[in-house]
Parts: sequence; structure tokens; C-alpha cells
Amino acid sequence: MIPRPKLSRPLSASYELTAGAAVSGPADLIGAVRTAMPGLDLLPGDDGAIDLRLDPSLGDEAYRLTVGSRGVEIATGGRAGAFYAAQSLRQLLPDDAFRYGAATSWTVPGARIEDEPRFPWRGLHLDVARHFFPKREVMRLVDLMALHKLNRLHLHLADDQGWRVESRAYPLLHEMSSHRPRSAVHPYGQPEAFDGIPHGGYYTLDDLAEIAAYARDRAVTVVPEIDVPGHASAILAAYPSLGATGEPHDVLDRWGISPAILSPLPPTVEFLTTIFDELLGALGETPYVHIGGDEVVLDQWAASPEIDAYRESLGLATVNDLQAWFLRRLADALAERGSRAVVWDEAFVSGGLRPDTVVMPWRGQGVARRAAAAGHDVVATSVFPLYFDYAEAASPDEPLAIGETITVADVAAFDPAPDDWAPQERERVIGVQAQLWTERVPDPRTLDYRMWPRACALADIAWGAQDDFPGRLEAHLGRLDALGVEYRPPAGPHPWQRRRPHLPGVIRLDEVMDRIEAMTHDPESTRPSI
Ligand code: ACM
Repeated sequence: MIPRPKLSRPLSASYELTAGAAVSGPADLIGAVRTAMPGLDLLPGDDGAIDLRLDPSLGDEAYRLTVGSRGVEIATGGRAGAFYAAQSLRQLLPDDAFRYGAATSWTVPGARIEDEPRFPWRGLHLDVARHFFPKREVMRLVDLMALHKLNRLHLHLADDQGWRVESRAYPLLHEMSSHRPRSAVHPYGQPEAFDGIPHGGYYTLDDLAEIAAYARDRAVTVVPEIDVPGHASAILAAYPSLGATGEPHDVLDRWGISPAILSPLPPTVEFLTTIFDELLGALGETPYVHIGGDEVVLDQWAASPEIDAYRESLGLATVNDLQAWFLRRLADALAERGSRAVVWDEAFVSGGLRPDTVVMPWRGQGVARRAAAAGHDVVATSVFPLYFDYAEAASPDEPLAIGETITVADVAAFDPAPDDWAPQERERVIGVQAQLWTERVPDPRTLDYRMWPRACALADIAWGAQDDFPGRLEAHLGRLDALGVEYRPPAGPHPWQRRRPHLPGVIRLDEVMDRIEAMTHDPESTRPSI
């Protein structure tokens, strides 16, 4: 099974589970099991083939599952645990149980499983800004996350190349900022080339509400990201007055880092808090909102007399302090609305975060450890091995990626909270998350290729009871086949998945990691070099 349960052993008896079988117990737990196993048309009833029981000694995500000759018994601490017990039960069935319109009856082998996760945050990030993925793809990703007991979907909703959500207060965002006339297709370091194809799309607030509700039913929490104050070209294309210069901007058609930056003055804070209200109003209970803080080029703040005067009026010594103040102001606004801010690690290096702000240390485990030592909750997000936009092999057959190489084995071998860290540092690591940036992921088929099976390895390290991952993965691929997931085959891409031949080389990941590790030691260095 993937992720591997904490404890499991086979029992000699087996049980015949038939479509329409009864499931008994508390109503919300019944709902969770029916949602997890839609193909079986399970019906609420007394004394069911599947019997659910709340056990207050177990955590919300913990469960015990017993399959014996008389049926299936599940004890759990909460709704998520019932959902995960049902996901484990599904993985006891043959691969064909994962097909649409499954059979009427399955023989479930006898088993006893006692299970709970190592980390509470088991995340996938999807950049829907660089390329938009329609709602149906997000729902499908939620289904696949649920199968793997992943529970945080981080949606990167705003970047230089697109804004992806309706705003009733600032409608030019979805009308203008949600599309660009073309996209760059040249590899890193090569002469510029563009596809000439318009690209765009956005979620309405009703879509977001629907995504959040669908996710919540599957024990997944949506974490929206509005990346500020940098990565702001799309916002500034619609509302240039929110920028540091007031100059016009375009939604970018190139990748990389842009000097476009929001102003830190009060109208920007008012704009962003209005956006937060719209997002939170649509998403419902939203414990975390990501506010970015990465790759900010502060030159335009330094060059603006108005922004400089504002900095002085706040008694702040440097533009770096002003950036820290700005992000803290937004985190305070979120706290007033019942949400915790999440930031990329540059915001931690700049200093001045609210103590409850969650840090995503993308530039490596060195800065992860420093953020943990400083008392922040940390979600491990290091480029290596958690950036799934990197290629899985250094081969000219691999589809064009941002760089190379991150293998399934690299992910499976990663420990988000290593033994040689101090206990108080390790305790601050609340989880681990893979990032799928989509500059080089133009469509859902490429998304599948990049995400799977590396996300299977992610699920395994996040749940944390690893053992013989390669053997379990081999068995698991049959489930992904039945589900129609176009994962990267272990032996390399299918012919139709290979790189288009005219696209040459990529940058090496070890060079990137050396450069960004050096940057995390320098608080002044907010200008990235990749
Ligand atoms: C990042 O990769 N800029 C978070």
C-alpha cells in the first residue's frame, strides 16, 4: 500500500464486500466512507458490512481497520481517519476496483491495520498561474491526493504570468490579468522563442467554493496563494496605480524574475485585504493563506521618494525592513480573519515575521532548520528533491523541464526532519510538500507525467512509515493505470511523452542548489540569481 501503514498484518479470513452493502456508525463517518468508495454504492444501515466507531483515544487522522470473516470494522478518532481507513480498504481490493463503474462484488483479504501519519501537513502545490488548469483537473488532483492520504492543496493563484480568480471588487483582475497573448517556449539560456498562442483562464468565486467543498469532503484543505509584493506583473497590468512606479505593465509572456513590485502604501494593503475577504468568503474555513514573499526585487521601493518617506514615517531602517513590515501587516490582517499566513523562506530571512507564520523553505534544508530553530512551523519544500518541475532523468528523451534531475528515489529518500537536528527543531517541521511549477507544464497530460509517481514517494515520506518503497510502488502502478493516470513509467517516457527533438539542454540542479543555498545566508540578498 502507498502510503505504507504504520502497522499491518494479514489475517487468514477474507470477506466478500458487495455493492450496496450497509455501512453503520456515526453519520459523518458513514459519509466519509461512502465518499472514499463511490464505486460500491454503500448504503447507510444498522449492523453494516462496514462498521464504524469513534475511538476518542485515537487522533483525528488515525484509524484501526480489521477485515475478518464477519466484515470490516473501523475505529477512528475522526472523520479524516474514517476516510483514510476507507482509502486503505480500497487498496486491499484488486486494481480493477479503481476503474469507473467497478464490479458488484470484491473479495477483501483479511487484514489488521493500525495507522496514523507522521506529519499533519502532507501537501501538493500546483502553480495554476504559469499555466491554468481547469476546475475538472483540480478535482481530479484532489481525488488522487485523497487516494494517497495527502491533505493540503496549495494553489498558486497569482504570478507575473497570470491571475486566476474572479474578483467582484477588482474585476479587471479576472477580465485582463487572467490571460496573456503568448508564452515563452525556449529552453533556459537559449534565444527567445514564443508560441504565439493566447493562454488564460480563471476560477470564479463559485468555482473556488466548489473546489474547497469537494476537497474538504476528501480531507484536503485548500491553501490559496496570492504571491506578493513581487511576482506582481499580472496585478499591475490591471491596476498599475498599486505599483511602486505607477507605470503600465503587461501580463508577462516570459518566465523568470521580474522587477515589477506592488507598492507597500495603504491602498495596496486595502486592495489585498479586500482580496483576502473575497477568497475567504468563497473558500469557507481557510486555516492558511500563502502570501508569497519570494524573489522580491526591492529596487523600485528604494528609488521611490514616496515609498522612502513612508518607510521613514514607520521608523524602519531599510527597504528590507519595509518588506518585512508589509508581509507582517498582511499576516496580521489574515490573523484578524482567522487564518495563518504562510510565506516562502525569503520572508523569514528578511526577519520580522509573526511567530505563528508558517515558513516554506524552498531554498533548502539549511534555511528550513534555521526557521525551525527560530520557532516557526516549517513545511519542507526544498527545491531538491521537492520541485517536481525538474526532470526525472538527465536524458534527451525527457520532456523539457526547468532543469534536472529529481528522481522518484530522491523523493523517497528525503527526510523532512532529519535525526541530526535538535528535537526542538524537528518538532517544528509540521510536514512536507512537493511543488509543481508549471512554466514547462502546459497541459494536464504533462502534469500527470511530472506529478506521478513522484507524488507517491512524497505521500510515503509524509505519512512516514516507509519500507521497501520500490516494491510497493511497482504494485501501486496498477492502481494508477486503472485510474488512467499518465505517470512517468519507471523505464522512461513512452514515445509520445518524449521531448520534442528541437529543444536542447537544461541547467543542472546541483548548480542551482549551490547558488540558492549561498543566498539564504545573506539577508540583503533578495535578488535571486536563477
Ligand atoms: C520559489 O520557487 N520562488 C518559491
